[in-house]
Amino acid sequence: MDAFKQSNRASWDERADIHAQDRTGFYAIDRFLAGEDVLYPIEATEIGDVAGLKLAHFQCHIGIDTLCLARRGAHATGLDFSPHAIAKARELSARSGVAAQFVEGEVYDAPELLGTDFDIVFTSWGTITWLDDIRAWAKAIAGALKPGGRLYFADSSPAIMTHEEIDGTIRPHYDWRSAREKPQRFDAATTYTGDETPLVTNFTYEWMRGTSDVIDALLRAGMQLDFLREHELLPFKLFPMMVDAGSRMFRLPAGMPRMPLAMSLGATKR
Ligand SMILES: C[S@@+](CC[C@H](N)C(=O)[O-])C[C@H]1O[C@@H](n2cnc3c(N)ncnc32)[C@H](O)[C@@H]1O
Repeated sequence: MDAFKQSNRASWDERADIHAQDRTGFYAIDRFLAGEDVLYPIEATEIGDVAGLKLAHFQCHIGIDTLCLARRGAHATGLDFSPHAIAKARELSARSGVAAQFVEGEVYDAPELLGTDFDIVFTSWGTITWLDDIRAWAKAIAGALKPGGRLYFADSSPAIMTHEEIDGTIRPHYDWRSAREKPQRFDAATTYTGDETPLVTNFTYEWMRGTSDVIDALLRAGMQLDFLREHELLPFKLFPMMVDAGSRMFRLPAGMPRMPLAMSLGATKR
């Protein structure tokens, strides 16, 4: 594992420990433990029926979404490269009594680590910017799926990720593509949930890319696009000016031009 990934993994280990305490309620762990389905509304309405399906959740973090999908009847396996995240996911499975498998490892190694006969791969919110090779990501998805199996993906719109809020306006600020060996560095003293615990690894490395790079990678890997949608909502405040939109989602304030903040897509392995 290269230095960028090692550093990112250290950051995710720290964040997993903070997120599992859920002091701000961002991850709705209490509600999940009380029996609620806490998937965000976009994927909750778009994912379709997963009952009885063999499901792989890439970048599962502390496993809340994996366990919600298991509650919906999926035979779910979560994969994440952070050992702390995997440990917390297993704890949440035990505490909730919802069965799921959790495997520590890199997304790119999913077919070797998890198998090649999944009905569905699910991955959402805070995923591909952590990956330095989008074609290897798409290959891992296609490799883990059986023929006819499908991908469900929802995340920030790649174009909006190149922007920053500066002096009350949203401006283009980063190049739209990062070279593998030159990721964008972001400094953050605390994590995105609002918890004020100071981070020791208080910076991350992320990779920018275009929507066309994502679609092209999936098509090259043998996937067929079923739908592509854009949304004016995100489950976190990408920009400080964003306001509560209900259902744990955020939107731009009134008066700002409406623009796509998120994308979701479905694809099927040919
Ligand atoms: C923001 S979380 C995304 C999951 C989910 N939306 C959530 O918030 O719980 C990002 C996750 O990606 C994982 N991750 C980053 N790079 C990875 C890689 N190369 N292989 C596997 N997991 C990775 C991190 O450990 C982290 O748990």
